[in-house]
Amino acid sequence: MKTVLRAQSVTKSFGGLVAVRNFSMEVGEGEIVGLIGPNGAGKTTFLNVVTGFLKPDSGRVFFMGEDITGLPPHKICIKGVARTFQLIKPFSKMTILDAIAAGALVRVRSKVEAYRRAQEIIEFLRLRNPERLCGSLNVVEEKLVELGRALATKPKLLLLDEIAAGLRPSEIEEMKKTLKLIRDEFGLSLVVVEHVMPLVMGVSDRVVVMSSGSKIAEGRPEEVASNPKVITIYLGERRGRARG
Ligand SMILES: Nc1ncnc2c1ncn2[C@@H]1O[C@H](COP(=O)(O)OP(=O)(O)OP(=O)(O)O)[C@@H](O)[C@H]1O
Ligand SMILES: [Mg+2]
Repeated sequence: MKTVLRAQSVTKSFGGLVAVRNFSMEVGEGEIVGLIGPNGAGKTTFLNVVTGFLKPDSGRVFFMGEDITGLPPHKICIKGVARTFQLIKPFSKMTILDAIAAGALVRVRSKVEAYRRAQEIIEFLRLRNPERLCGSLNVVEEKLVELGRALATKPKLLLLDEIAAGLRPSEIEEMKKTLKLIRDEFGLSLVVVEHVMPLVMGVSDRVVVMSSGSKIAEGRPEEVASNPKVITIYLGERRGRARG
């Protein structure tokens, strides 16, 4: 399998806090890799390093064999890395169509071409009435627009930060199908950062577990789910939450 993403010993601190510590992971072509871990584990910080929103203190990031460490976000995006954000900032005054076409304009020069691509993606994601304003959408539709904007940039690698947060069980099942379909139809690789276990365990070929900035486990979903270290961390987190 060709390696699409290779992050090597990435470290990123904020003041005295080491958010990502000597963290390495790889993603192969067409692979869906889940990235899980308790709150504050460093998952979003890692995505920010990969996508150029943060510069690592040390370590390298390779995309399709090319060192992209420290490049600005738009350059990394052009190379074929797209992401969605944990906190969706809805483009409330924009229509669904405009919001997704804006994503396409990263890749194509003509407006006509951008709108054609946006229309295709809207059909693929089965978003109804694309003339609606993004401010008027329900949670599922907001997530789909966010996905659509990322897909419109024609990525080879798509990084999703908590795409299933706030969805109901039936919606999670739908999202699972959508993510697999995206991989199959667009032939891309995905990193799925997620707390919603039914989703991440259901879609991932491989799962990486992060805790306090470091990788503590990696393997097939069923391997990871039965790993004592992983169970301890999640039980600890649940107890902590129950107390808090
Ligand atoms: N810009 C920042 N400045 C200072 N500290 C930060 C910053 N961003 C993240 N951190 C800290 O780094 C650590 C890792 O945070 P991060 O957001 O990467 O975790 P996460 O795994 O995405 O958590 P969650 O599951 O809650 O989203 C946390 O302790 C967080 O408070
Ligand atoms: Mg996060």
